[in-house]
Amino acid sequence: MRDALWPLIRAGLFRIDPETAHGLSIQGLKTGLMPGVSIPADPRLAVTVAGLKFPNPLGLAAGYDKNAEVPEAMLKLGFGFVEIGSVTPKAQEGNPRPRLYRLIADEGVINRFGFNNQGHAPVLASLRQITSKGIIGVNIGANKDAADRVADYVAGIRAFYNVAAYFTANVSSPNTPGLRDLQARDSLRELLAAILAARDEQALKYGRKVPVFLKIAPDLSEEGLDDIAAEVLASMLDGLIVSNTTLSRDGLRDVETAKQAGGLSGKPLFAKSTVVLAKMRRRLGPDLPIIGVGGVDSAESAAEKIRAGADLVQLYSAMVYEGPGLPARIVKGLSEICDRERLALIHDIRDSRLDYWADRNI
Ligand SMILES: Cc1cc2nc3c(=O)[nH]c(=O)nc-3n(C[C@H](O)[C@H](O)[C@H](O)COP(=O)(O)O)c2cc1C
Repeated sequence: MRDALWPLIRAGLFRIDPETAHGLSIQGLKTGLMPGVSIPADPRLAVTVAGLKFPNPLGLAAGYDKNAEVPEAMLKLGFGFVEIGSVTPKAQEGNPRPRLYRLIADEGVINRFGFNNQGHAPVLASLRQITSKGIIGVNIGANKDAADRVADYVAGIRAFYNVAAYFTANVSSPNTPGLRDLQARDSLRELLAAILAARDEQALKYGRKVPVFLKIAPDLSEEGLDDIAAEVLASMLDGLIVSNTTLSRDGLRDVETAKQAGGLSGKPLFAKSTVVLAKMRRRLGPDLPIIGVGGVDSAESAAEKIRAGADLVQLYSAMVYEGPGLPARIVKGLSEICDRERLALIHDIRDSRLDYWADRNI
């Protein structure tokens, strides 16, 4: 699809229910309606994180392709990596529809999906079909009715070990009651111990150590961030993803839609998630990988996440507003930033605005 057509397609999509529009975009990608782009690889954008070589630092965040239906098509749009899921052991319907809202004036999205997904077995079958050598991570969650939530994450590690480039343990969705409690210090210690033990057991079996990342909420106090940092540093976790959607509704123009329950993402999340990212970078030191996500919608906002301390960046909501041409535009724009700032590597700007972001209040 040519970029010039996007305003027209967007106008059409915005006339229909957001979840139906999302389904159509997945179908479009499945049928090849949106052919991929070919952007020449720019070695200045390549980055090695947790032992994985990413061709560029921009990834698709979890939630767009929950069931691994189109990860290869998304890689072809220019993303350097794609995260599928969240996937839970058993299939789940999620919350009743409607459960996805556009806040057009704010370029935001509110969702309360509640981990609707097909469950481990069908998603694993889809991932087994993949031939691409691109980096596809698996985001794992717990069923709403799980008697033992930690066991659901462990089951995820075991089920997908052979197909996942990396894992993300999502403990930060606001739409599964009580899930975010797993971020509390004692619960987090127990969770990290269990999932990393499962990873080590599988690493012995397969002879390959798959990195595990933890995805946190932006709605945490300074003390909450201290606790997470302490547990992360005491563990063998490979990295942190900052952040999931927020429960905050500060500063929104679309006050009517803002009343909907769920997690807010997109542009209104940018500052909050970037502040939390920088605060975590400060706490964790320079070595632990961090993936910055929340409100990225341009090369400049992607670069700002890196300046605040991110090694890699992800986005989802901006695709709703900017369309399938966005990842290629951002990747090209990152190359232009390298030209402009005479950078040998885009990674060289990391932490250059850490203090600016980390000193702000959440
Ligand atoms: C509709 C929707 C569904 C999402 N589902 C998931 C999910 O299943 N698992 C997860 O870890 N994050 C999920 N997210 C959160 C995103 O991965 C991301 O962290 C968040 O939206 C902030 O990025 P953005 O502002 O670029 O959208 C979802 C976000 C949206 C908008």
